[in-house]
Amino acid sequence: ANFELHYAIRTRDRGAYWQQLVERYGGHRIKIYCDAEGDAIPLARLLGTQPLGTHLYVCGPSGMIDGVLKAGLNAGWPEQNLHSERFLSSLPGKPFAIELLRSGKTVKVGHHESMLEAIEAAGVDAPFLCRGGACGQCETGVVTCDGKLLHHDVYLTSEEKASGRKVMICVSRFEGNTLHLDL
Ligand code: FES
Repeated sequence: ANFELHYAIRTRDRGAYWQQLVERYGGHRIKIYCDAEGDAIPLARLLGTQPLGTHLYVCGPSGMIDGVLKAGLNAGWPEQNLHSERFLSSLPGKPFAIELLRSGKTVKVGHHESMLEAIEAAGVDAPFLCRGGACGQCETGVVTCDGKLLHHDVYLTSEEKASGRKVMICVSRFEGNTLHLDL
């Protein structure tokens, strides 16, 4: 694929793999910005000069991710072209039950348990990859939702979250009477 990597590090001796990346892919693709040398990613210029249809993927400290995504939206990028990875963990919450329509099982989700963990414990094979709300693998269809979905992922768009038709079972939760999942 045609790509550029813009990689910000604090110091050269603490930046993981930057030399190997430059050696393997070349300086025209891999741009290193070293804080100790006064460099910073020229975000506004980069966001304003990409061809239409470009996708952006950002990973790093939470404040940086928020800043990049906000700058992308302000620069007119469509939300579905902006991707981030945060390595979230599932948050605790009130216990609830879910009905798995295809497997015909009712699963109780405990206070400190994610839906995915509870589903696995019930012997149902659910897809997953990151277990952190970022990759999209565990996206599950919501059949009926008599209550409120608590979306904690960074994968679904705001529109998809508002539709109530999908949920990322690795990090999101539910409050209410019944949640029926297509699983
Ligand atoms: S497993 Fe990656 S978003 Fe849920």
